[in-house]
Amino acid sequence: MRSLVVGNWKMHGLGAEAAALARGVREGAAGMAAALVVCPPFTQIAAVAAILAGSVVGVGGQDCHPEPAGAHTGDISAPMLSDAGARFVILGHSERRAGHGESDALVRAKAVAAAKAGLRPIVCVGEDEEERAAGRAEGRVAEQLAGSLPPDFSGIVAYEPVWAIGSGRTPGAEDIAAMHALIRARLVGSFGAAGSAMPILYGGSVKPDNAAAILGLKEVGGGLIGGASLVAADFLAIAAAAPALSSPGMLH
Ligand code: 13P
Repeated sequence: MRSLVVGNWKMHGLGAEAAALARGVREGAAGMAAALVVCPPFTQIAAVAAILAGSVVGVGGQDCHPEPAGAHTGDISAPMLSDAGARFVILGHSERRAGHGESDALVRAKAVAAAKAGLRPIVCVGEDEEERAAGRAEGRVAEQLAGSLPPDFSGIVAYEPVWAIGSGRTPGAEDIAAMHALIRARLVGSFGAAGSAMPILYGGSVKPDNAAAILGLKEVGGGLIGGASLVAADFLAIAAAAPALSSPGMLH
């Protein structure tokens, strides 16, 4: 029973720094209670996967196209990610929803494509600041879950309040726990027993000094880490703070 701690490197990492970061994570990961995954930019996936081969650290992509191949200039398909060594893929991150106009329906199609290629989708949901202020956070997240998860979904959900990403601000423990409880209830409602075992990650300004408090909350199955995942020591410190899980939400 393990927490899952995923590093989202976003658009960071030229060859030398990505390789050094991957080596640093690999060296510190052995013996960790948590399962670790890193998601480098597309150009570094194959190199990072080679460095992490045979280690306990998995590799993921940050997005994929819903089609397996075709005339889609600039896009990367799920089979391409798998071919490069990825086993996971982040989908529907708020930076893609906002920056690339991704809808719930598109995220759902991508989740289907990912599963078909043998990748485990990590589907992101989360309210923005205005929605939270208006008391619509839970409704927004419920709507995103209903629209973004396919009927046969078998993957991971990440709750990332948009206003907590890169801001140094996080919701209070009660708010995180309440949202994770809502997500769990929705997953069980939609997927039955399978939904009770799907990991639900929290993301948004998780740092070494708040990791234990956040990752120890009920129904928090791990973390999706942005900025702090770019420093191996910080990412490893966060992973070390993740508890061994004894309740639903396990990866293994
Ligand atoms: P930060 O950890 O930098 O807030 O980013 C969170 C995130 O967006 C991970 O996907």
